[in-house]
Amino acid sequence: MTALSEFGSTAPGPSQQDTAWWRQAVVYQVYPRSFADANGDGIGDLRGITGKVGYLRELGVDAVWLSPFYPSALADGGYDVDDYRAVDPRIGTLEEFDELCATLHAQGIRLIVDIVPNHTSNRHVWFQEALASPPGSRARERYVFRPGRGEDGELPPSDWTSTFGGPAWEPVGDGEWYLHLFAPEQPDLNWADDEVRQEFLTTLKFWADRGVDGFRIDVAHALAKDLTEPLASQAELDAALWGGAHPLQDRDEVHDIYREWRRLFNQYDPPRTAVAEAWVPAHRRSRYASPEGLGQAFNFDLLEAQWDAAMFASIIEENLALARESGTSSTWVLSNHDVVRHATRYALPEGTDLHAWLSTDGADPQPDEERGRRRARAATLLTLALPGSAYLYQGEELGLPEVADLPADALQDPTYVRSGGEHKGRDGCRVPLPWATQGPTLGFGDQLAHLPVPADFARFAVDSQEDDETSTLSFYRRALAERRRLQSGETLDWLTDMPPAVVAFTRPGGWISVTNFGTTPTPMPAGSVIVSSSALDGPQVPPETTVWLQQSGPHQD
Ligand code: GLC
Ligand code: CA
Repeated sequence: MTALSEFGSTAPGPSQQDTAWWRQAVVYQVYPRSFADANGDGIGDLRGITGKVGYLRELGVDAVWLSPFYPSALADGGYDVDDYRAVDPRIGTLEEFDELCATLHAQGIRLIVDIVPNHTSNRHVWFQEALASPPGSRARERYVFRPGRGEDGELPPSDWTSTFGGPAWEPVGDGEWYLHLFAPEQPDLNWADDEVRQEFLTTLKFWADRGVDGFRIDVAHALAKDLTEPLASQAELDAALWGGAHPLQDRDEVHDIYREWRRLFNQYDPPRTAVAEAWVPAHRRSRYASPEGLGQAFNFDLLEAQWDAAMFASIIEENLALARESGTSSTWVLSNHDVVRHATRYALPEGTDLHAWLSTDGADPQPDEERGRRRARAATLLTLALPGSAYLYQGEELGLPEVADLPADALQDPTYVRSGGEHKGRDGCRVPLPWATQGPTLGFGDQLAHLPVPADFARFAVDSQEDDETSTLSFYRRALAERRRLQSGETLDWLTDMPPAVVAFTRPGGWISVTNFGTTPTPMPAGSVIVSSSALDGPQVPPETTVWLQQSGPHQD
């Protein structure tokens, strides 16, 4: 390839001309408020991220996905957006956003931003206008307002419950109620309304014009709703089949919206990309991922899977087939800001109820940390060997565990309060990153951190891992560098003559990935070792380990 990238001739990443960059990208999710705090106020900020672009380049990622950085009261970690075309002043400014974007691009790293179209925050000007306006007014049409039941509208329009617990309707004091599938601070928009549609096209254009390369679409499956009266009951919703028939989820009309977005994305060169967060059954995912729609969709199957060879193999097989059918590439996710970190999931006995475990502050059952990390590294190396895009979540490259014993008064996730304290929520994976072994916030910022950084996070600090060849960070760097060198084509061939606890396949170029899910060593296929998720001892794949090998050539012990 001779064309110099628009990002500059030293850029390691794919060039601007490469319109298919997203198909096999490694995308690193940054949760901005917990990444790095440049001004020491306890909240991670854009300048903090800009200051770590060198770290991201060395890690070897192709793109960064920024979780919401917009003005927000943080009723749901920023997924309650006050203004879609601005930066939270506690996090930075638009100029600082442009600087971050330019700094990433100069290093060949692309930028994806989070778009939250299902709901605004309750502080958004539209919602404020709706509250100040009477029932039946134009301002209320942008949301989902309905008269309450009962004589004076004192009962909610239906018995629906919200994702975070409690009712999905909130009264506004004049007989009307508004719908919120998430927290009450997140009123659902009415996507049947043309102004709502136009507004989001304007927002997408605003960020695309600023140089943003792609978008992550929050709750992509819930925008279109059938609210014909009489409203279904919660029991009917629970019984409704997903796949077009559910009144609130995964309706076919939602794709009209994404077809319109795709036309906008394709006006850019290269076309802007998008990935749907759609919690839908695997066979419905392709619609979101189709080239006429958003182009790609998250596959959360591995994130929900047990540590099990057969389960991994069938998930991989199914998702590659689905991606092929719909002309997209697959996605692989083991961790994100909504789930217990995979180093911890794999440290717990199979079948552990994670909510229940969190409610014991992570004490019962006791996680086997070393095993968790070992499996996590093996699972990561396996997913990095697969065709498609890998989405990494900040801190997994350090082997961070979930922080399960955050004090109750530190918890921010609305799930905690709305479940009456039953579900601790998602804060344990959102704890600020430890950059240094020393200091009150371990290098995250100065004295303060919006969520407490546990003292034992010093063990995982970037500065302690950087020069240690055996650290998880060094392992991620090696793996990403090798992936970049090796990745070509979008196919794999299963190696079938393997023991049941082994998942192994060859990729174009004669590169093999073999994962031993079992507890005893298994023979290594012939080839020279490229990278391994744990230390090797002879020509065997150790338990709970992935090894990449180059097929031809001498064996390296
Ligand atoms: C998505 C986000 C999650 C958020 C929810 C509501 O699932 O990933 O963090 O709470 O949408 O916006
Ligand atoms: Ca800050």
